[in-house]
Amino acid sequence: MTQTTTLPPVLLVGCGNMGGAMLDGWLKEGLAPSFIIDRHRESVPAPHHLVRSPDDVPDDFHPAMIVLATKPQKVDAVMAAIAPFALRAPVLSVLAGRTVAGLSDALADQLPAGSPVPVVIRAMPNTPCSIGQGMTVCYAPPIATPAQRMLCTRLLRAVGDVAWIDHEDQMDMVTAISGSGPAYVFLLAELMEQVGVAGGLPPELARQIARQTVAGAGALMVRSGTDPALLRRNVTSPGGTTQKALEVLMAPDAWPATLATALKAAAHRSRELSGPQPVS
Ligand SMILES: NC(=O)c1ccc[n+]([C@@H]2O[C@H](COP(=O)([O-])OP(=O)(O)OC[C@H]3O[C@@H](n4cnc5c(N)ncnc54)[C@H](OP(=O)(O)O)[C@@H]3O)[C@@H](O)[C@H]2O)c1
Repeated sequence: MTQTTTLPPVLLVGCGNMGGAMLDGWLKEGLAPSFIIDRHRESVPAPHHLVRSPDDVPDDFHPAMIVLATKPQKVDAVMAAIAPFALRAPVLSVLAGRTVAGLSDALADQLPAGSPVPVVIRAMPNTPCSIGQGMTVCYAPPIATPAQRMLCTRLLRAVGDVAWIDHEDQMDMVTAISGSGPAYVFLLAELMEQVGVAGGLPPELARQIARQTVAGAGALMVRSGTDPALLRRNVTSPGGTTQKALEVLMAPDAWPATLATALKAAAHRSRELSGPQPVS
C-alpha cells in the first residue's frame, strides 16, 4: 500500500535519540522523500536516503526544512556543508543552549558576503517525543514567515504537543519545566518506589505501583482535561491519608520552595549554556 505523504521533504542532520524520535513521527504521518544524515543509524525506509555526512547530500536536493538534531557541540562541524541549503529552506534547531542568533551567524559565516540571512527557528522538545507524547516549545525570530512557523508546528506535532513563545529568553524556563521535566517525574516514581520498599513492600510491587501511579495520574490529567489542582482535591478527603501527606508536601518550605529552587537552578544553567541572549 502506498502511503500518502503529508509532510514535505526535510534534511535531518543527526538522527540519534531526538532526531530518530522526530523521524519516526514523520514517517507515520507520511514524509516526502528526505535526506537523513547520521553516522550510526543503520537504515531508513524507502524512499528516504540515509547518508553518513552532510557532504553526501546532493546539491540539487531542495528540502522544505533543515532540521538540526546533533549534539550542540557537534553542530559547528556541519555548518559549512549545511549553509548552502539554508539559503533555500529555514533551519529548525532542537539544540539545547544554541541561540537563534548564534546559529544564524554561524551559518552566515559560511556563505558568500551579501547572502540572505538564514532563517533559524529554535525548538525545545523533550524525551516523551519518542512515543509521540512530547512537549515542544518553539521560538521564531521576526524574519521567519507564518508559513515557516506553520511547517515547524506540523513537523513537531508529529511527536506531541507544540507551543510558541514570543521571547527567546523564555526558553530557559521552558527548558527547566518541559525539557528537563520528565526527569523530575521519573525521580518521583523512583522515590515512591524506594519509600515503599523501605516501608516493607516487596520491591516488585513497590515498583509496579509507583510507576503505574505516575503514568495513570498523567494520563488522567491529559485525558480528562481537568485542572490538576481539582484532580488533587478529588483524591483528598478531609482528614484522610492524602491530606496528611499533602500537608507535608505543600508546606511552604517543602515542595513549593524546593521545586522553585530546582527550576530556577535549571533555568540559570540553561542561560549559562546559551551565553548572552539577543534582544527579542
Ligand atoms: N534527548 C533529549 O532529551 C533532548 C531534549 C531536548 C533537546 N535535545 C537536543 O537534541 C539534540 C540531539 O540530542 P540526542 O540525544 O538525540 O543526541 P544523539 O543521540 O547523540 O544524536 C545525534 C546524532 O547525530 C550524529 N551526528 C552528529 N554529527 C554528525 C555528522 N557530522 N555527520 C553524521 N552524523 C552526525 C551523531 O553521531 P556521533 O555520536 O558520532 O556524533 C548522533 O548519531 C541535542 O542538541 C540536544 O540538545 C535532546
